Amino acid sequence: MENKGLDLLLTRRSVRSYKPDPVPEEALDSILKAAKYAPSAMGLQKRFFTVVKDRVILQKAVAAAKENGASFIPGHMPFYNAPAVIVVSAPEDAKYNREDAACAIMNIMLAAHACGLGSCYICSVLPGLQDKRIVSELGIPQGYLPYGCVCLGYAEGKVPEAKPRREGGIFFAG
Ligand SMILES: Cc1cc2nc3c(=O)[nH]c(=O)nc-3n(C[C@H](O)[C@H](O)[C@H](O)COP(=O)(O)O)c2cc1C
Repeated sequence: MENKGLDLLLTRRSVRSYKPDPVPEEALDSILKAAKYAPSAMGLQKRFFTVVKDRVILQKAVAAAKENGASFIPGHMPFYNAPAVIVVSAPEDAKYNREDAACAIMNIMLAAHACGLGSCYICSVLPGLQDKRIVSELGIPQGYLPYGCVCLGYAEGKVPEAKPRREGGIFFAG
């Protein structure tokens, strides 16, 4: 049975090589709208989205992450030269801030895929994104902190196939 919605979920893959072409504004608008429509605990919608296209800001975030203890393999580019990154922030004192951010990030990745764009969820740079110096550059409201971000752009080359799924892991309890 053909189901485009389900196909979208099954065919999204993390993209780690991007063309330099910018993300079209129309696609970015749709992606941000999808992000805002993600579920949030108690429907509070307390998330904040920062779109970063400036590589210098991303480089500063990586440098701050290293200063704050993150380690990367030499030559690794944590943002994979993506032409855009969306940083997702939520209130530091909210009980479900990480969950709210993760739901928004999932919507961002699926919306990107629906628009023909690649994406990759990035947490490795969080120690840098959460650094006070970077938070202030990202226009994040007082009391909010980044809990994840997503690279966006057109995939360069073939996107790797999904790994086979683990067997089992499902139990019908009732
Ligand atoms: C919470 C979370 C954090 C992640 N952080 C990173 C990251 O920092 N860098 C990266 O390249 N991929 C990151 N990923 C992507 C995963 O490596 C990827 O989803 C996984 O390998 C499965 O591949 P797929 O997305 O193509 O199905 C992250 C994924 C999740 C869910």
